Formats: sequence, structure tokens, C-alpha cells
Amino acid sequence: MSYLLATVDDTRAFGRSLAGLLRAGDLVVLTGPLGAGKTALVQGIGAGLGVAGDVTSPTFVIARVHRGPVPLVHVDAYRLGAVPDPRAEVDDLDLDATVDESVTVVEWGEGLVEQLVDAYLEVRIDRRDDEARVVDLVPHEGDWSSRLSMITELFPCVDTEKVP
Ligand SMILES: Nc1ncnc2c1ncn2[C@@H]1O[C@H](COP(=O)(O)OP(=O)(O)OP(=O)(O)O)[C@@H](O)[C@H]1O
Ligand SMILES: [Mg+2]
Repeated sequence: MSYLLATVDDTRAFGRSLAGLLRAGDLVVLTGPLGAGKTALVQGIGAGLGVAGDVTSPTFVIARVHRGPVPLVHVDAYRLGAVPDPRAEVDDLDLDATVDESVTVVEWGEGLVEQLVDAYLEVRIDRRDDEARVVDLVPHEGDWSSRLSMITELFPCVDTEKVP
């Protein structure tokens, strides 16, 4: 399912809507190039979950816990792309200690964190031009397919072939 997000505000709004589907134990893996809007989407998720603290792109911190009714664990694994054994670094983050009671959202997490849970949501963000982004929601197992139907009612799907 693809969605067109024309501005950064749309991306944050999409994150807020996505937060409405999320519950403790969920894993969301974000993919997309530098500057795609992954952090902007997590800012929306954080706002939607009502968690504390600004969601940012920290220079050194790889994982940050935002307290809230359901805590948000925001991971940016970008820097792990350059280390010899990224899986070992991910193990050191101890995400499995928090994954059950939190929503865990991982930027650049593809191939590194999927083993934490049985089912997860993949969010692919593609840059189109200066501002427009196309987001694809890809369910992986569990009840993600049926949960995603809720967001389809809020945001119109687009045919990616027709988006320039
Ligand atoms: N439609 C849009 N959605 C999201 N961001 C947008 C959009 N249009 C413009 N932008 C801008 O693109 C940038 C996205 O930055 P952001 O840090 O969210 O990307 P990122 O995918 O997390 O990058 P990185 O890979 O470096 O972590 C911001 O400067 C934002 O203002
Ligand atoms: Mg980012």
C-alpha cells in the first residue's frame, strides 16, 4: 500500500495516524535514503503515542527511550552500517529487554532487528522530488495486514506508477 506525502507536515501526520495502530510489542523497521523523512515520521509516531522528549537524529546516540503510556524506543542504526559486526552491536543495545513493553522503531534497521519479534511492519520511504515522498507499508506476518486497513481509511492510497 503506497501513500503520497507532499510535505514534512504530511509525513508527521502520517506518523501520528500510524501511532494509532501501534501497541506494546510492535516493531517498525524504516527504510529509505538519507533525508527521506524517517526521523520526521518517528516524530509523528512519538506525538501520536504521547511520549516525552523530542525525537531527534542524534549524532552519537543509537537508541533512545521516550517514556510514555507505551514507551517509544527509537533506534537509528545508520552508524552500524560501517562497523564490522553490526548484529553484535545491535545485540549490545538489549532491545529484546524492552521490545515487549514498548513500540520499537528502527531507522536503517533492515537486516538487523527483524529477529526481535515474530511479526513486524516495514515502512519504506522514497524521495520523489524536493518535498514529495512516497511511503509503502509492508506487513510482515502477524495481524499487520488487517491493522493496516485502518490507515487506508485515513490516507488515500496512490498508484506509484502515476507519481512523478
Ligand atoms: N514530504 C516530506 N516528508 C518528510 N521530510 C520532508 C518532506 N519534504 C521535505 N522534507 C525534509 O526532508 C528532511 C527529512 O529529514 P529526516 O531527518 O526526517 O530524514 P531521515 O530519513 O531520518 O534521514 P537520515 O537517514 O539521515 O536519518 C527534513 O529536512 C524535512 O524537512
Ligand atoms: Mg533519521
